[in-house]
Amino acid sequence: MSTIFSGIQPSGSLTIGNYLGALRRFPKLQDDYNCYFCIVDEHAITVPQDRLKLRNQIRSLAALYLAVGIDPKKSTLFIQSEVPAHTQMAWILQCVAYVGELERMTQYKDKSAGKDGVSAGLLTYPPLMAADILLYSTNVVPVGEDQKQHIELTRNLAERFNNKYNDILTVPEPHIPEQGARIMSLQEPTSKMSKSDENQKATIYILDEPKQIEKKIKSAVTDSEGVVEYDKENKPGITNLLNIYSGFSGESVEEITQKYEGKGYGEFKQDLAHVVIDGLEPIQKRYYELYESEKLDTILDEGSDHASFVANKMLKKAKKAMGLGRVHLKR
Ligand code: TYM
Repeated sequence: MSTIFSGIQPSGSLTIGNYLGALRRFPKLQDDYNCYFCIVDEHAITVPQDRLKLRNQIRSLAALYLAVGIDPKKSTLFIQSEVPAHTQMAWILQCVAYVGELERMTQYKDKSAGKDGVSAGLLTYPPLMAADILLYSTNVVPVGEDQKQHIELTRNLAERFNNKYNDILTVPEPHIPEQGARIMSLQEPTSKMSKSDENQKATIYILDEPKQIEKKIKSAVTDSEGVVEYDKENKPGITNLLNIYSGFSGESVEEITQKYEGKGYGEFKQDLAHVVIDGLEPIQKRYYELYESEKLDTILDEGSDHASFVANKMLKKAKKAMGLGRVHLKR
């Protein structure tokens, strides 16, 4: 059975971008792959976090993974910082990576631009992500489009390691969805919808209440044409809303545009709000039960035990391949 690994940062409340680009696809993979799903809290601290909020967000993300349908009997769900092999492997991969290639990562450039006191961790973020993936001999990494460059780097690091030391790392493939790979901000539809956006109107969170969802969709930026049409270049706002509609309803963009031919944005937005609210309702209901449950702690404990067992084996092989540790003399 092939192996899947994916991770999400607990750096804020999750958005429908995270849902459509990643989370929603995970449950379907569980029957056909050996799956690892991770709460990557060590990635979250590459930028400043409020420590109390972060701890809640970690638990919240664990509950959300389960609420969308991750089944702990089929998949391993765990918290990155509870498996120390990740940071150890990350160090090894930092010694394989070049500073130049890390500086070229667009996420690093975006997050560091114009900022003082950028952490070294923000630069070495991709080798930690590569460690996550490579420790489990992952074949496939389901992610949204924004992570493609990081997976490309992971592939390069794995190949470089294999050529230089020993051929032990599996070179993974990214798996990017056709629909929902890049959900955009509702207020600035040319930039990505992000959980760290300060403008609350720009983002629909998975846990938003129906009234908030309706309000945010109604005030989403569109254009003055009033024609529901898919045109990324000239109508990015409506195009984004069409992608969200299609993602939640399962209808194709063509079917939706046909349905709204001759109708205005008002009716389209009203229906879209209902489609999103109905899609999120069952997840929200399960989420609140899970967040409070003791079962959640048991699942995470078992997840980190299993992940540690697998990760430590690969870490040991990688250390040996590089010559770390001491030679054992025959006596
Ligand atoms: P993160 O936490 O930013 O996002 C989690 C997942 O959601 C996808 N995503 C989106 N998809 C569509 N539209 C959007 N607007 C949108 N915003 C986010 C992301 O592509 C991602 O799949 N570096 C990763 C976390 C990570 C990871 C890993 C992923 C750490 N280690 C190993 C895979 C494998 C990140 O910051 O994702």
